[in-house]
Amino acid sequence: MMRKKTIFTIDIYEKYNFLNDTEIDKIINSINPNDLGHYDYFTGNHKTTYVNMSDNAYILDHHKDIEDKIMNEVYLPNQRMQDSWINIQGEGSTLKYHKHPGSIISGIVVLKADEHSSKLVFKNPSTEETKEMTLTTGLLLMWPSYLMHGSGDSVNKSKDRAVLSFNTWEK
Ligand SMILES: [Fe+2]
Repeated sequence: MMRKKTIFTIDIYEKYNFLNDTEIDKIINSINPNDLGHYDYFTGNHKTTYVNMSDNAYILDHHKDIEDKIMNEVYLPNQRMQDSWINIQGEGSTLKYHKHPGSIISGIVVLKADEHSSKLVFKNPSTEETKEMTLTTGLLLMWPSYLMHGSGDSVNKSKDRAVLSFNTWEK
């Protein structure tokens, strides 16, 4: 069940076990190692498909079934999937605070996380108050794209913390 959660008066949405292990393996096995590169939003050991997809495709272009499944859960009308990519973080890495300008809804599907994984931390746009989300494998999280997020004070301590990220745009 998709659950609405209100943080700093802003609604975000979460669904646990949104993807099963078979769906997650299919996505992870489709990653071409040549597509993995580095991105400024991280510190430490990380890889992302954000910069490098060889055919200029986004990861969900290769997984239309998963894209449809996500779009079925999107909480605003007239949205379409825009960009999607995978981030893999190793031990000692962090994600700097950032937002996704130009998009409407941003989200993640957690492909691999455990109790040692860094958190996803949201920041209140007016007070700088923060709200920490613990990631579990299979979790779908969605929020308005203007909302700042990163790993806050948490440092990733799991071997492979893998997350599929996406943005929607208005149709
Ligand atoms: Fe992000």
